[in-house]
Amino acid sequence: MERTYIMIKPDGVQRGLIGEIIKRFEQKGFKLVAMKLTSPGKAHMEEHYADLAGKKFFPGLISYMTSGPVCCMVWEGAGVVATGRKMLGATMPSESAPGTIRGDYCIEVGRNICHGSDAVDSANKEIALWFPEGISEWNSCQSSWIY
Ligand code: TYD
Repeated sequence: MERTYIMIKPDGVQRGLIGEIIKRFEQKGFKLVAMKLTSPGKAHMEEHYADLAGKKFFPGLISYMTSGPVCCMVWEGAGVVATGRKMLGATMPSESAPGTIRGDYCIEVGRNICHGSDAVDSANKEIALWFPEGISEWNSCQSSWIY
């Protein structure tokens, strides 16, 4: 079953949006398989965003992302990587459609609330980076015929 890494950024945590974001993923039908709050160090966050290391906004991104706790989650379900990205909305809040998380809750790209893996490969890498302890398996009470 496909899995993705969703992270609520420090602004999302501080603004009390954890419950709202979890609600949207649960109601869509995805299954939460791992979750924790953590305050990552600079090196860990730089590794997460390694692909963006050369960008002008990189130092600001890292200092924002390490300014407070983040909520790390792994969600599971058919097509969860692509659908999760759609639910988050476009990177730029001005381009995020209303109804998406970013479209509904933010106006600044540098404070865009949430992260979601952009492909199955990066999801697997990000899950390994953020949950090195592994993920406990559990059976959902959701009957498979419903979803
Ligand atoms: P990116 O991986 O391009 O977007 P996404 O988060 O949608 O996968 O960029 C990572 C984060 O970097 C983005 O969520 C916010 C920040 N960022 C800026 O601060 N300024 C920018 O111009 C861009 C493109 C991104």
